[in-house]
Amino acid sequence: MSYKSKIVSTGKYLPEGVITNFDLEKLVDTNDEWIVSRTGINTRRKALESVLDMAYNASMDAIKKAEYDKDKIDLIIVATITNEIKSPSIANLLQAKLGLNDKQVMAFDVNAACTGFVYALEVATSLLQSWKFKSALVVGSEKMTNIVDFTDRNTCILFGDGAGSMIVEPGDIDSVFYNDSKGDNTKILEVDKYVKMNGPRVYQFAVDIIPKTINKILRDNNLTLDDIDVIIPHQANKRIVESIIKEMNLSDDKVILNIDRYGNTSAASIPITIAEYKEENKDLKTILIVGFGGGFTWGAAILKI
Ligand SMILES: CC(C)(COP(=O)(O)OP(=O)(O)OC[C@H]1O[C@@H](n2cnc3c(N)ncnc32)[C@H](O)[C@@H]1OP(=O)(O)O)[C@@H](O)C(=O)NCCC(=O)NCCS
Repeated sequence: MSYKSKIVSTGKYLPEGVITNFDLEKLVDTNDEWIVSRTGINTRRKALESVLDMAYNASMDAIKKAEYDKDKIDLIIVATITNEIKSPSIANLLQAKLGLNDKQVMAFDVNAACTGFVYALEVATSLLQSWKFKSALVVGSEKMTNIVDFTDRNTCILFGDGAGSMIVEPGDIDSVFYNDSKGDNTKILEVDKYVKMNGPRVYQFAVDIIPKTINKILRDNNLTLDDIDVIIPHQANKRIVESIIKEMNLSDDKVILNIDRYGNTSAASIPITIAEYKEENKDLKTILIVGFGGGFTWGAAILKI
């Protein structure tokens, strides 16, 4: 089924603090050459700000870019797994920080790990379809450096902090979604106090599920790759993306990557990448976003931005 809506603006926020591979060499037994060749990551960001502050800054970026009347916003959904407290949700705190406490707003967080933004966007878009809401603010904001063990070289090299946002209104532009999950009790990828992961098993999961997900959403909607301007995948590992480019016979410029600068920012990675892409490409484009993550969760959407 396709939803009718309109993406009004996109935004992002990356904190100023940078962790280089050379910084990590001082913390764990690793080196720049290994990290670049195995992951494609050169730097990632480290926030002094909170998850809320980053969500707010990314939201204000989208609001300012469109000179948007934020009082119209009546639905706020934040995808995150790194909220510093269990409640209130980041979405509730964001409502207050945006000065929307006097308005009737439905605000809540979504936890679907690195697929969180794709899930949150489908929830928002389907609620907008009811025409009960006028304007949805959908955000992915993550402070991964809070849940990464900087003595564990298997994980600390991968993750970074940041936030991305999107404002969506009811409209007449079609978007389609495919979101899916499988309850996993094998502890291949989980967050207790820190992220714990069997890297090679997660890698295998990713290279298997991403092409299947792309093919499914295209097939279900009678589309082909020729109908898509660019694919924006979750930024987890450059090698994962390269293997998909090879398997699906894609041209390199069809797939957008920024993992070299930001690492894996979990639920923030897709909206950050969309916002960066939109800054460079002002005319309307058809994009396919695809994510995967803990849960396991995975999903894709085809959008016009
Ligand atoms: C984590 C990941 C980069 C590891 O790369 P890999 O090629 O699978 O490497 P392996 O885990 O097989 O380790 C290979 C060797 O490098 C070593 N190694 C692991 N991390 C290292 C590091 N940071 N620096 C140097 N060596 C490291 C391992 O100990 C192993 O050594 P050994 O051969 O002597 O046993 C990769 O598996 C990955 O990206 N997985 C997906 C993770 C992911 O996307 N998670 C988030 C999902 S949303």
